[in-house]
Amino acid sequence: MTNPRIKKVLITREEIEAKCVELANWVNETYKDSDDLLLIGLLKGSVPFLAQLIKDVTVDHALDFMTVSSFGGGTVSTGNLKIVMDLKNDIFNKDVLLVEDIVDSGLTLSTIVANLQQRKPRSLKVITLLDKPSGRKVNFEADKTGFVVPHEFLVGFGLDLKEKLRNLPYIGIFDETKLDEVK
Ligand code: IMP
Ligand code: MG
Repeated sequence: MTNPRIKKVLITREEIEAKCVELANWVNETYKDSDDLLLIGLLKGSVPFLAQLIKDVTVDHALDFMTVSSFGGGTVSTGNLKIVMDLKNDIFNKDVLLVEDIVDSGLTLSTIVANLQQRKPRSLKVITLLDKPSGRKVNFEADKTGFVVPHEFLVGFGLDLKEKLRNLPYIGIFDETKLDEVK
């Protein structure tokens, strides 16, 4: 049953799962010659996507995680990012693939990419499940994107509203008249 706070299901569970197979095939092809691949999930939004993606990734890889937060909180990204939890791994000379749920303003990823480049990985690419180009504030393109989405507030499959609704197995448009219902 669809969650009552969802105005419309934008991408179904089946569509997400099929797309993740396609994206995993891209990973397999892109890194077929890599012997030191590290997938980095940005916590917490990337978790469902990363978990689904690696089911069909056949190239050897390790996982690591990073938590960043923008000052001020809220639903608007400010671009002032703080690394709340850094990687466990040294990424020097590794092939690094950053895994993200959505690119909106582009501020999060452009800042993290600049930070990680200073650590001199062998290569650094970004894969995102969703891209919301209408939100862009800086020039940033992921190397691989699952779905291009409209200018709406989305929840589910990792995307949250006040840390809730990440668990939905589909991606939906949040019904803003229900904003006060989510604590
Ligand atoms: P940006 O590209 O720096 O603006 O930020 C991307 C981050 O903003 C994502 O990792 C999400 O956490 C969050 N975000 C952007 N759009 C949405 C949305 O529609 N719903 C939920 N979170 C979003
Ligand atoms: Mg996020």
